[in-house]
Amino acid sequence: MKNGIKYSVLLVLFSGAVCASQADDDAAKQTYLQESRQITQAFMQSLGGTLKQQLETTSAENAIGVCKYVAPALAADYSKDGRLVRRVSLKNRNKTLGQPDAWERDILEKFDQQKAQDIATLETSEVMEDSDGRWLRYMKAIPTQPMCLQCHGQPSDLSAGVKAILAKEYPEDSATGYRVGDIRGAVSIKQKWPIQP
Ligand code: HEC
Repeated sequence: MKNGIKYSVLLVLFSGAVCASQADDDAAKQTYLQESRQITQAFMQSLGGTLKQQLETTSAENAIGVCKYVAPALAADYSKDGRLVRRVSLKNRNKTLGQPDAWERDILEKFDQQKAQDIATLETSEVMEDSDGRWLRYMKAIPTQPMCLQCHGQPSDLSAGVKAILAKEYPEDSATGYRVGDIRGAVSIKQKWPIQP
């Protein structure tokens, strides 16, 4: 009987500890999700704003630099505190930066199947494991808007000048042929799990 009581006390203490760490994990995941949403929104607003301004005040040919230099620079700026922030796509212009890994590819394919739903809210967040360990991951779909077509649309949407620059700078470009409402790619954020203090 005495042993039975001891056992129950231990069990209660143990499950209390499990619950506490489960609650800590859930809180950390929730914080990660909120931060990822904020980063994605800030990243997309900043990039979209700069791009829109360039398109309105100069030309699509000039604005190519925004996507080429500003986008990777912003992604690098947001990649701090153990986070890696980047843009990925199933059809890339920049093969080095934009290539999805297996998990990202899977999510991008799922987003494509769901794009008829509310495209602006398509996101996912989960803990996953790969050969480098465990990761907290987040992805949010990037919808194709009318202004994107000047550089990512059908051949008839692209000016001769844009086509010439893209052919020169991105000879392996596959990021054209999009229509408004397609998913151009996603913002992807990853961080080691459990989060290091
Ligand atoms: C003025 C031309 C131009 C416009 C307009 C433009 N892009 Fe791009 N986009 C590019 C270039 C150039 C790259 C390659 C950037 C690099 O080298 O990393 C690119 C790359 C991307 C990538 C990274 C994946 C890849 O294909 O390499 C995404 C995602 C993307 N653009 C989304 C958009 C969206 C969404 C819009 C509209 C809001 C948009 N772009 C408008 C020129 C443009």
